[in-house]
Amino acid sequence: MNAPFKPVGLRDLFNAFVCDDDTLELIRVAAGDMGWPIEKCNKGGLRNAVQSLSVSASPNILFVDMSESGDPINDINALAEVCEPGTVVIAAGQVNDVRLYRDLLSSGIQDYLLKPLSLDQVRESLTMAQAMLSAPKHADMHDAKPHHMMAVVGVRGGAGASLVATSLAWAISAQADRQTALLDLDVHFGTGALTLDLEPGRGLIDAIDNPSRIDGLFIERAMVRASDKLSLLSAEAPIHQPVMTDGSAFFQLEEELRNAFEITIIDIPRQVLIPFPHLVSEVGTILLVSDVTLASARDTIRLLSWFKQNVPGSRVILVANKFQTAIGELSRKEFESSIERPIDVLIPFDPKLVSQSAKLGKSYAEICKGTKAAQVWTNLMRLVLDAADDEAEEAPAAAKKAKSGGSLLGKLGGIGGMMAKKGAK
Ligand SMILES: Nc1ncnc2c1ncn2[C@@H]1O[C@H](COP(=O)(O)OP(=O)(O)O)[C@@H](O)[C@H]1O
Ligand SMILES: [Mg+2]
Repeated sequence: MNAPFKPVGLRDLFNAFVCDDDTLELIRVAAGDMGWPIEKCNKGGLRNAVQSLSVSASPNILFVDMSESGDPINDINALAEVCEPGTVVIAAGQVNDVRLYRDLLSSGIQDYLLKPLSLDQVRESLTMAQAMLSAPKHADMHDAKPHHMMAVVGVRGGAGASLVATSLAWAISAQADRQTALLDLDVHFGTGALTLDLEPGRGLIDAIDNPSRIDGLFIERAMVRASDKLSLLSAEAPIHQPVMTDGSAFFQLEEELRNAFEITIIDIPRQVLIPFPHLVSEVGTILLVSDVTLASARDTIRLLSWFKQNVPGSRVILVANKFQTAIGELSRKEFESSIERPIDVLIPFDPKLVSQSAKLGKSYAEICKGTKAAQVWTNLMRLVLDAADDEAEEAPAAAKKAKSGGSLLGKLGGIGGMMAKKGAK
């Protein structure tokens, strides 16, 4: 299905196919600034690009305007049919939709720019494309280490999702010795850093302000290290400042964390899940944390059914927290029969060790070490790592499928691999 490989010598450095005069003018200026020939900046959008490239060699860097495309993903796939391996593609369009952005990136597009374009934005994107071209190429992108992404979602505020996220992150990094990232998406009130006695830094806020800057290097600089094996990204955004994001920063962070770590744990407040449901579309494991109350039973039912519909491929582990035998609102049995499924892991209400952990600035799981309460964390860690290892075993088969499948990623000769390498240090 790939276009036959034509000799590299015949390739242009840069081609552009744009829909309107303003964009044409802007692209010419930007290409000129890069020192590239400007005569291959053409009027005519994605359709023209497909027509033209079906009869000529593909350039090293291709800029396509999708403004006139009715079905962008389909058209990008048509482009993949005629594009040779190694071409770095930048797309531009008028559709401001995170889902489209994500789909395009996973089709192998290097960047998607929203119109109207600014000269700075185009220059930055062209510079990135040039850097991609000169990055070392790795023939085998599948030697990248396996990665497992998990989301921790609290059924209600206060159920203990952040306690579970920080504890599990500590356990997996310190006891299972895996490179672990903790991403705390409660941008204003996150407690990830506080729990581990760290300053959150500006990393997450910078990422939200400037999603296009998020790459492997950014991750390396922005993550706060809790230990050799555990890094954290969280924020204490000023309360008067609303989070202004279309979600692309969060998705981009997920992509880069995937490249740089073995395990990523995302602490996602349920209200963040509502505007950005796709944040969990590629997680392997979802930890749903609930307390054993009536209100939580209701919302557990609703969230379980939402996950089943929206993320059918992921595994949901139900953690019941703050459990109290004698004075609890519901018994374990009552809770389980109302949600019609068993609890996977039960964490007792443990004010003594929890407050000790807060005073010492350590995760609860670390404080549990050597006590009876440690068993919970060993069990939970085992459940998660078994899921991770199962996924890793399935990964080579999935990768093979992806390679022969319909995405530009395979077709354009390992752009994904180059992106993966960029972050993996
Ligand atoms: N098992 C537990 N025993 C006692 N206190 C707990 C337990 N789990 C969580 N807590 C406390 O409950 C409060 C809310 O927990 P947190 O993890 O911030 O919840 P969430 O992130 O779901 O809003 C915190 O003060 C935390 O220390
Ligand atoms: Mg929380």
